[in-house]
Amino acid sequence: MRRAMLPLFLLMTGIPATVPAQSTAAPPIAVIPRPAKVTPHAGRFTLTARTVISTDTRSAGLGRQLARYLEPATGYTLPVRRGAVSGNRIVLRHDASLKRLGDEGYALEVRPGVVTVRAPAAAGLFYGIQTIRQLLPPEILREAPMRGVAWTMPAVAIEDRPRFKWRGAHLDVVRHFMPKEFVKKYIDLLALQKMNSFHWHLTDDQGWRLEIRKYPRLTSVGGWRKETLVGAYTSDTAKQVFDHEAHGGFYTQQDVREIVAYARARFVNVVPEIEMPGHAQAAIAAYPWLGNAGDSVAVWTIWGVSQNILNPSDSTVHFMQDVLTDVMELFPGPYIHVGGDEAPKTQWKSTPRVQERMRALGLTNEDALQSWFIRQMDDFLTARGRRMIGWDEILEGGLAPHAAVMSWRGTSGGIEAARAGHDVVMAPGSHTYFDQYQSLDHTHEPLAIGGFLPLDTVYSYDPLPTELEPRFAKHVLGAQGQVWTEYIRGPKNVEYMAYPRMAALAEVLWTPLGRKDYADFRSRLVAHLARLDALDVNYRRPAPLPGQPQAGGR
Ligand code: ACM
Repeated sequence: MRRAMLPLFLLMTGIPATVPAQSTAAPPIAVIPRPAKVTPHAGRFTLTARTVISTDTRSAGLGRQLARYLEPATGYTLPVRRGAVSGNRIVLRHDASLKRLGDEGYALEVRPGVVTVRAPAAAGLFYGIQTIRQLLPPEILREAPMRGVAWTMPAVAIEDRPRFKWRGAHLDVVRHFMPKEFVKKYIDLLALQKMNSFHWHLTDDQGWRLEIRKYPRLTSVGGWRKETLVGAYTSDTAKQVFDHEAHGGFYTQQDVREIVAYARARFVNVVPEIEMPGHAQAAIAAYPWLGNAGDSVAVWTIWGVSQNILNPSDSTVHFMQDVLTDVMELFPGPYIHVGGDEAPKTQWKSTPRVQERMRALGLTNEDALQSWFIRQMDDFLTARGRRMIGWDEILEGGLAPHAAVMSWRGTSGGIEAARAGHDVVMAPGSHTYFDQYQSLDHTHEPLAIGGFLPLDTVYSYDPLPTELEPRFAKHVLGAQGQVWTEYIRGPKNVEYMAYPRMAALAEVLWTPLGRKDYADFRSRLVAHLARLDALDVNYRRPAPLPGQPQAGGR
């Protein structure tokens, strides 16, 4: 979200929740997202220095990962053994008989003396491990030995699997650059909440953040802007105040490989976004021939939607395809995001060369020309075994044949695409734009882009629109939360805007609809906020519900 004007839907207020009074204690099974099926048993399991992690051959790596998760806070270096062991143990097993739980489901049994995670595939075992991390006391997430904590878990049987397969979070690292270590922390938090897609917004008008070997100026020039607008956006240039500080940074290809591997080890797929033909002023600043105007522009220093967009010449198409070649080498996941949103056609209309091009291609208007441009990317990516995804503007002028659509201007674009047989990720501003205010009282909030998106509104979201015919529901892969960073200047501010709303979205995406319950979520959130405290996450403390104490330790 980067527009100067606030779309109408952002001005909608949240849907007030009707919430019954709550008991004050966090429930013993305070897992977020809420598992599909939970059967409590009597007794507890106690983790000790003598606990052994038992794996099969394929789950040995996950066993070591579990041992690494548990070591810092307990101080125990738990042995990981293949095959059966006796005594106090945590057992990880692939189990083909659980196929009904799908690729990401798992069954977890906690009994005094024995914990067993069984799953048909590795992702399920990983999610069983995340549940174990949440059944233990929140201190388990700390990075130094915690004295005086009893490392116990309530006995329970859990059967669990996600409702949606795309459980995503987006992060804009252009408007404000985010250091590599923070990107890893962001991914770690997603994994803890069983989210599996990280949408990395890497290029825009205000910066280009990805090293491309063939075009070094993209980062040496496009990676930096001279200064940044201070405060809320105003179109009145006389009122614009700048900070006179250069801002920038980029990820080297080695950094990217590191982050992708880090995400992969946590079953998170990274979806890179390279914006075109709009939101590309930083690229045009680096290589002016990519633009329409013929004069050079600077990397943008204000917010909104720039008029400077890519020209639709063959050389520009080839340039962007070269960029995508590097992108495909770095990002092994199936989806490559090409943006496609908010590309004003003013320059295309006024540039004779572009008008000639349009006629030569037999196209009748500029929307069709954008559609043609995007189709060149779809063909290119499809021929190389990848899937193109773009914001819902790629529907205008005709959707490319293999494209998936990310629906941000409400859900109608997503519905239209799903009905046409295209896969869809829901990302409507009304429920998933975490750059909006969390309170109506802005005096106690950091400057934000506008709008109002409280926790209960996020929680109330259902990615499956009621008006979508059931036969098309399979095309709705899931949804994701957006963190655009015009007004979010660094990691602590990102955490404040993303949490706990991302935890609510995690539950929207994982938990069966019939098990969703906001009051129950809020009671489990008490323990979850203690986890976020342990992880040094600067979340926004939610307003207390009637009958509940203030949650969290801050
Ligand atoms: C968007 O917020 N322009 C996708």
